[in-house]
Amino acid sequence: MPEQTAYTSAPQSMDELALVREILRLKEEMNAVILAHYYQDSIIQDIADIRGDSYELSRRAREVDADVIVFAGVHFMAETAKILNPGKTVLLPDLNAGCSLAESAPAHLFRRFRAMHPDHLAVTYINCTAEVKALSDIICTSSSAEAILEKIPADIPILFSPDKNLGAYVRNKTGRQMLLWQGVCTVHEQFSEQRIQELRETWPDAEMIAHPECEGAVLRSADFIGSTSAMLRYVEESPTRRFIVATEAGILHQMRKRAPGKEFHAAPPNNGCACNVCDYMKVNTLEKLYLCMRDRGPEIIVPEDLRLRALRPIERMLEMTQGDKEAVHRVLGEIALPYHDSVEGSI
Ligand code: 13P
Ligand code: SF4
Repeated sequence: MPEQTAYTSAPQSMDELALVREILRLKEEMNAVILAHYYQDSIIQDIADIRGDSYELSRRAREVDADVIVFAGVHFMAETAKILNPGKTVLLPDLNAGCSLAESAPAHLFRRFRAMHPDHLAVTYINCTAEVKALSDIICTSSSAEAILEKIPADIPILFSPDKNLGAYVRNKTGRQMLLWQGVCTVHEQFSEQRIQELRETWPDAEMIAHPECEGAVLRSADFIGSTSAMLRYVEESPTRRFIVATEAGILHQMRKRAPGKEFHAAPPNNGCACNVCDYMKVNTLEKLYLCMRDRGPEIIVPEDLRLRALRPIERMLEMTQGDKEAVHRVLGEIALPYHDSVEGSI
């Protein structure tokens, strides 16, 4: 569950304090809710009303009752919020907050990929554009992929896009017949097996936990694999006191808050740095968060015909994970294979 707590960390300067005060004031004035992903700067995570992994943020965005959703995350996340809750104004502090996975799958190439494999059902990771969502059958997140694949009849082959590492991970776990798009997260791709091994030798009592976007070699040596929220739950519940964490470094702030007596070390990348940071996530700053609220923009706009086509595959994810057997049956019953591209013209 995404927790919902008050602002708790101390601003580091008068400027930060003034920005925090203004953000809180604007939040009231415009009747806004701030959603933040765990890879955002610590102060942004702390100021947010709702934090979560991609699955939880989608689910919670759909339920927001306030007039404005301020999304401290990357573009595909804010776009998903708009698709699910179109009556709200959705703001993103910086429209350049992209994602290497979304960029790896342009809609016109994805459309060709689908057309080449019409007998395959397309399960697509939420880290993609609205256009690619609209061309998919079911959207998934790192926390829901395995459960969704297990509910699809075993004889149906799967196209999994765009993350080849998450795809290979769930293919191994489920034994499904899956064709993988060859996209990668440039952050998770960079962890160094050798440097992780050196840390494990320094702290033999530590557990190594990893996000499934990491490469297979890193995942094979991990003690636990899961989405950001699953990793957070794990460090809270495990009796282990020391962890090496192979995901974006922003999550360490949340781990230290949720498991204060424990020690967390960022798994190092192969570029000499001490930790891995997602530059896309970090283009959002506290100042840009304030400015986007003051200016009511940049705003996420999704054309209505595209929104409607992208909506159903996202809803199917929510229904397949939250619904009973009948809901799953209904969802699968409405997916027609072989795939027929009903979108007119080119994307
Ligand atoms: P989750 O928070 O869903 O695990 O996703 C990680 C990620 O890379 C988001 O871009
Ligand atoms: Fe995309 Fe990777 Fe950044 Fe997540 S961490 S937003 S998957 S580039």
